[in-house]
Amino acid sequence: EKGGYDHFMLKEIFEQPKAVKDTLSPRLNKQNDIRLDDITLTKEDLDNINRVYIVACGTAYHAGLLGKNLIQKYVNVPVIAEVGSEFRYNDPFIDNKTLMIIVSQSGETADTLAALRMAKEKGARTLAVTNVVGSTISREADDVFYTWAGPEIAVASTKAYTTQLVSMALISLDMANKKGTISNSMYHDLIDELRDTPAKIDKILDTSDEIKKLAEEIYNKDHIFYIGRGIDHDVAREGSLKLKEISYIHSEAMPAGELKHGTIALIEDGTPVIALATQDKLYDKTVSNIKEVSARGAKVIALSMLKNKEIDQSADRVIYIPNIIDDLAPIVSVVPLQILAYHVATLKGADVDKPRNLAKSVTVE
Ligand code: F6R
Repeated sequence: EKGGYDHFMLKEIFEQPKAVKDTLSPRLNKQNDIRLDDITLTKEDLDNINRVYIVACGTAYHAGLLGKNLIQKYVNVPVIAEVGSEFRYNDPFIDNKTLMIIVSQSGETADTLAALRMAKEKGARTLAVTNVVGSTISREADDVFYTWAGPEIAVASTKAYTTQLVSMALISLDMANKKGTISNSMYHDLIDELRDTPAKIDKILDTSDEIKKLAEEIYNKDHIFYIGRGIDHDVAREGSLKLKEISYIHSEAMPAGELKHGTIALIEDGTPVIALATQDKLYDKTVSNIKEVSARGAKVIALSMLKNKEIDQSADRVIYIPNIIDDLAPIVSVVPLQILAYHVATLKGADVDKPRNLAKSVTVE
């Protein structure tokens, strides 16, 4: 059942190229246009929408953050992303011009479901992104977009997350194309890049043994920091969550520029800092932040693209990912972080598939 892998989590990490392909391919036609037959939102519906909420919990929330970024950039509509357990208590602005996007692997998370019900009651149009056909959330939302990740058994979410990222990209680009807020060339460039993501993930899977060597260097530490700017910060949050939930090492993700407003006080000799620097427009600033923590003794593992070879001058170790357009980098950059968390946890002898205190589906608020 584990298909030769030691754990479901590792099997699911390695299933990502297929999961991404299965989510993507049925939504692209021969002309390389996005066809979301499952979503009934028309151009008129979209023109009526003046605000989008994205609500989800945990890893699904981290995926939602990419959706926020892409919708704001390409659809030109303000987006508020919130975790399910906070959303209802923050007096959300919801009316019949609101689109509520719900992201939930299981389709059963209590806080996320409650947010969906509240949004419907207040007249919002609702769209659920879920992995489980027939789940409560899939039955109650106006539209449902399925991530075709296949069953995810390990408690720590991996392939559900990457397919949620792909879904966020497809939904955002389709909205932008329908509304005419994206150029045709940008739209098709991004689709071409999406098509290449399974092969790029495959390349990273091939380096699992090298990532294991990095895990050996950090698995006995008590604190690990993840830093990044923009969508790198969103992926940093996911990398940090993955590490802490399965290895029980305390870890925190910080916007790289926010470090010096407090958290940098915790950096001492040998503190591991995993620094994501995949975004062109933020690259130099992130490299400055790498130098700041390095100067205070941090052991920096940078994560960047192959084209940024010279980052090895500033960091102690580098994880290189294949070059990819910045906006879609998370689909690829999260994979080495999942593998790193996995190896750290196994080196510590942790029960990777069933971490303590956690359940696969959280059905209490
Ligand atoms: C972490 C993880 C959780 C879930 C969260 C939401 O690895 O799996 O953070 O992402 O509990 O679950 P769903 O997506 O089922 O609503």
